[in-house]
Amino acid sequence: MSRTVYVNGAYVPEEEATVSVFDRGFLFADGVYEVTSVLGGKLIDFDGHAVRLERSLNELEMKNPTSKDELLEIHRQLVERNDIDDGLVYLQITRGAADRDFAYPKDAEPTIVLFTQAKRGLADSPLAQTGMKVISIEDQRWGRRDIKTVQLLYPSMGKMMAKAAGADDAWMVEDGFVTEGTSNNAYIVKDGVLITRHLGNEILHGITRKAVLKFAEEAQIKVEERPFTLAEAQDADEAFITSASTFVMPVVEIDGGPVGTGEVGEVARRLREIYLSESLKAAV
Ligand code: PDD
Repeated sequence: MSRTVYVNGAYVPEEEATVSVFDRGFLFADGVYEVTSVLGGKLIDFDGHAVRLERSLNELEMKNPTSKDELLEIHRQLVERNDIDDGLVYLQITRGAADRDFAYPKDAEPTIVLFTQAKRGLADSPLAQTGMKVISIEDQRWGRRDIKTVQLLYPSMGKMMAKAAGADDAWMVEDGFVTEGTSNNAYIVKDGVLITRHLGNEILHGITRKAVLKFAEEAQIKVEERPFTLAEAQDADEAFITSASTFVMPVVEIDGGPVGTGEVGEVARRLREIYLSESLKAAV
């Protein structure tokens, strides 16, 4: 059965869904996106994603073609029409189609596309039991990583570098400090203190990050939002990542060396449990 996707106001079978070859998302990566996970047919952290979408659009002076309520309705319709139990909803808004010109066009109408991807057992990933391996790579992305744009080529290259090295992902390093993973935020734990890079233009302001830091503080875990070096990460007791599609995922190896005991850490395990149970309660 073919998926139903949403394109510019219409629900259509994926084979019939099209956008223009002049779309600036295609020509300039002039677009933003969000990924919202679905567990038990419900949306996790929808509000946070809608708020960040608005911020990304504002930073790029791009029009938002929908209201938050309409957006929620489209997400729900797609989850229902595609019978998604566990999976994700991908949303992309671009500046729209116009003759190729570096300057923003004045009259282009934004393009909006949403589709679902089913991922059975999303919350029961075996990687959460074993932990993942990461390598470190130089962060060669542009300087506005706080805007969730669709220009994801360097993160794709990073994932391929990780794959070639037999690892699951790459942590990016700039001036000796870890910025984030290719598609996730990065954390270490040392002597009971949870350390993650502070918000700024250098990293994406993760929606899962925000929730997890709140749950950590509620659980009396001391949090320090500051840059940490690769050496600190290699010497940490624990490490983990967060994102909408992986929730909290332990990291047990960096550049071939074990983190702490090389086993999944207690803080990561606990925060994953809390995040999943609390987010499910609040899911819409
Ligand atoms: N990635 N940092 C980067 C560079 C990301 O691409 C992501 C999300 C995150 C985590 O943000 P959040 O917790 O809001 O998902 C951090 C999504 C999942 C993706 O591109 O598939």
